[in-house]
Amino acid sequence: MNIVEITVYTDDLLKAVNRLLPQLSDNVKPVSKSYLKKIIESDSTFLFIAEENDKIYGMLTLIMAPIPSGFRAVIEDVVVDETFRGKGIGRKLTEAAIEKARKAGAAAINLTSHPSRTAANKLYQKMGFILRETNVYKMDLVPK
Ligand SMILES: CC(C)(COP(=O)(O)OP(=O)(O)OC[C@H]1O[C@@H](n2cnc3c(N)ncnc32)[C@H](O)[C@@H]1OP(=O)(O)O)[C@@H](O)C(=O)NCCC(=O)NCCS
Repeated sequence: MNIVEITVYTDDLLKAVNRLLPQLSDNVKPVSKSYLKKIIESDSTFLFIAEENDKIYGMLTLIMAPIPSGFRAVIEDVVVDETFRGKGIGRKLTEAAIEKARKAGAAAINLTSHPSRTAANKLYQKMGFILRETNVYKMDLVPK
């Protein structure tokens, strides 16, 4: 299994992202070709995929940006194809993001995961992420 940082758009990538997104959450809408291109072209968003023989088995997004308190790194949208879970793919994706953030000079990586996401919480804790006591807030800007 190879972990690859995406730099070029392909239709196969679009198909894979839209196959994986519903496995991340029921509430996520499919992405368009132009939106995926925007992600790939962004200076602050880094999309990693797990692939083997041209098939995509999982993805992870790393966001990195300079902010006044330091160079910020955040992991988002980690998902592995349901039938290929438990084989170390999520771990490999996360390791690749950690490595990228370390090389970029981030002093820490942040992420959030709902307590109901048992596998994800186990994965992060096993990899050394420490649970922080903080409140996470959200404001919907588009009516649901
Ligand atoms: C979370 C997720 C990405 C893990 O991917 P994965 O490839 O199955 O995980 P790995 O095989 O790399 O497992 C790594 C570690 O995670 C933990 N883990 C993985 N699946 C687990 C499960 N079902 N129950 C408990 N722990 C689990 C284990 O500690 C495992 O280490 P071990 O194999 O040494 O015991 C995957 O379950 C997934 O896509 N879930 C749905 C989407 C999601 O919740 N994403 C996270 C959003 S925050």
